[in-house]
Amino acid sequence: MYIEPFGIEMWMNEFEDHCKYNLAETCIKSMTISELLTLSGRNENITEELSKMKMTYGEITGSKRLRSQIASLFAKQTSENVMVTHGAIGANSLVYNSLVNKGDKVVSILPTYQQHYSIPESLGADLHILKIEPENNFLPDLSKLKQLINDNTKLIALNNPNNPTGSLMGKEMLTEIVSYARSCGAFIVCDEVYRGTNQSNPEYGTSIVDLYEKGISTGSMSKTYSLAGLRLGWITANPEVLQNVFIHRDYNTISVGILDDYFAAIALESREKIAIRNTKIIRDNLSILDNWVSNEPNISYIKPKAGTTALLKYDFDIPSRDFCIKILEKTGVLFAPGSAMEMEGWVRIGYANDPKILTEGLKKVSEYLPKFK
Ligand SMILES: Cc1ncc(COP(=O)(O)O)c(C=O)c1O
Repeated sequence: MYIEPFGIEMWMNEFEDHCKYNLAETCIKSMTISELLTLSGRNENITEELSKMKMTYGEITGSKRLRSQIASLFAKQTSENVMVTHGAIGANSLVYNSLVNKGDKVVSILPTYQQHYSIPESLGADLHILKIEPENNFLPDLSKLKQLINDNTKLIALNNPNNPTGSLMGKEMLTEIVSYARSCGAFIVCDEVYRGTNQSNPEYGTSIVDLYEKGISTGSMSKTYSLAGLRLGWITANPEVLQNVFIHRDYNTISVGILDDYFAAIALESREKIAIRNTKIIRDNLSILDNWVSNEPNISYIKPKAGTTALLKYDFDIPSRDFCIKILEKTGVLFAPGSAMEMEGWVRIGYANDPKILTEGLKKVSEYLPKFK
């Protein structure tokens, strides 16, 4: 089966370990296990608890303890609606491989995480792209979306909050999209891996699965919870969808690691504390970025409303890949080129890493930018 190479993952594989200031990374400053245990008050007896664990496959769809924690991230879901996966990347892959057949009409926004259009395309879907544009604050133009949907539409793929733009669809917009999907019985798959990272709204964010009976939400511990090393994600959907996914999951997952499951449960049980830590990081860091952008005459952006990334528009006449490589060579700062996500002329910054790395990295870039003139 042919599949398009995954632009952003290839870029990260090539350069992530060769930079001094990683401003391409999309996690909120990752935690150590020690930080997690301190934050959750579990430092004592942990070694004893871990050493007693029998290294079996564990509960196949994820432990009840973990699934009930994941279910509690939603307004109307129970553990029966949750399936644990290898990261959100495993969740997305399973969902498309389970639902999309050759010839099925799939509508995806762009830019987005490439899985959402390249996997359906590789499965032979009749793919339709809706570009989200800076003129519309990187939100979907609903009249254009409506035109793309007809009785044959099998699935609509969203990513909310959006990587790379940092745009955020609220309940009203999602409800409108649900009404289009319901009119033709289409599924809505919404990658919600950045859910809970809003800049101003105190709410956690509306999930598609709470709005729509054919809504499917994917998420993980990687971004909002700063624990990408667990490689733990989930699919939240109605049991019928999950049964179908399960047939595929048996072939490529069996279960997730029980240590991953265990630490994820501890983290979600302490999620208010993680939220306090992480909200501070993303809000403080965005104000550092915002200040930097407003002082850079050749850089502009649409200020993100959520997530951990933003697209920066530069007005130099150079392809984004060359621009990023030059900056990396001369300053040690890693951005991600727009060309890796079909957004030539832009670069993506991940601004939620360590504030010191962000501040120093941006300073280095400022010193070098005049050389592009
Ligand atoms: C939108 C989106 N979905 C999914 C993933 C994969 O995340 P995970 O680490 O949970 O597999 C990423 C990672 O960058 C992402 O940005």
